[in-house]
Amino acid sequence: MILITGATGTIGREVLQRLPSDRPVRIMARQPERVTGASPAARIVHGDFTDPASLTDALHNVHTAFLVTNPDGGDDTRFLGPARAAGVRHIVKLSAAAVTDPAATDLITRRQRHNEDLLRASGIRWTLLRPRAFMSNTLSWARSIRSGQVVRAPYGSSANACVDPGDVAEVAALALTGRGRDHACGAYTLTGPQALSAAEQTAQLAVLLGLPLRFEELSPQQARTALEARYPTNIASALLESARRQHSGSKAGVDATLPGLLGRPARTFRDWAVDHLDAFRPNSPARG
Ligand SMILES: NC(=O)c1ccc[n+]([C@@H]2O[C@H](COP(=O)([O-])OP(=O)(O)OC[C@H]3O[C@@H](n4cnc5c(N)ncnc54)[C@H](OP(=O)(O)O)[C@@H]3O)[C@@H](O)[C@H]2O)c1
Repeated sequence: MILITGATGTIGREVLQRLPSDRPVRIMARQPERVTGASPAARIVHGDFTDPASLTDALHNVHTAFLVTNPDGGDDTRFLGPARAAGVRHIVKLSAAAVTDPAATDLITRRQRHNEDLLRASGIRWTLLRPRAFMSNTLSWARSIRSGQVVRAPYGSSANACVDPGDVAEVAALALTGRGRDHACGAYTLTGPQALSAAEQTAQLAVLLGLPLRFEELSPQQARTALEARYPTNIASALLESARRQHSGSKAGVDATLPGLLGRPARTFRDWAVDHLDAFRPNSPARG
């Protein structure tokens, strides 16, 4: 049995669509009714990282798990303990590319490193997926594009080798099913095929939408105010620190691991944007 966590999130929901229908799958979610896109054969159960009894039930008979956790304060011990007790043999963990950068000392990256260490020390076989920024982060621009044809972000000319979440999910599905090879002890840095700045992504969206989008650079203080409207202060600070690191050029490297694993080129931002263009169109329902 394969257990999927984070199934209502950006990567997890894409993983569901890439699992072979002949493998037994259980999906764990805080609100099972919010899970979409699962195979009819998959069982969806209630589970919450803060509720140990729910994890014990969700992990019964599971041999492989996909683990998605957000840096919300609790560490992955709360999942690894019940997973070990249940006899889970392999965990594929969604981590982040920043963990390999010694200059990355922000709170989110420190927590990801800590959680990687916990998994490696757990005695359970592991695979670490370390993506660069998700292309889908640009969905946070959808509202201002729809209402005012404008994108606002800090450090607009700094580049990030952002990755299509669908590509990350495809690697996750490979690692979970063991197709192709044994992915135990694999630590995969996953990037897109080119580094793009926010201003360049805005220009690409403008062409695809046929709209004269403007890019407006936010000062670090303006960016902090915008982030603090969406996140707790410590997370907003970590995201700003991460943006500053991007400005220094540390997120522009393109990695060959993803095309090597998938046997095809990584998808471009244009590929992703074409598939998600409706979210940015002026007449689409309010999202993002
Ligand atoms: N965004 C990026 O650019 C980026 C880049 C690299 C790495 N990452 C890493 O990717 C991870 C986030 O992945 P994502 O974007 O796919 O997730 P996401 O969209 O943020 O969704 C989080 C998922 O976790 C679930 N969840 C939250 N709290 C839970 C709890 N207490 N118990 C059970 N499930 C819970 C949520 O379920 P509910 O529906 O119940 O809320 C949701 O399915 C983070 O570790 C982040 O550091 C992100």
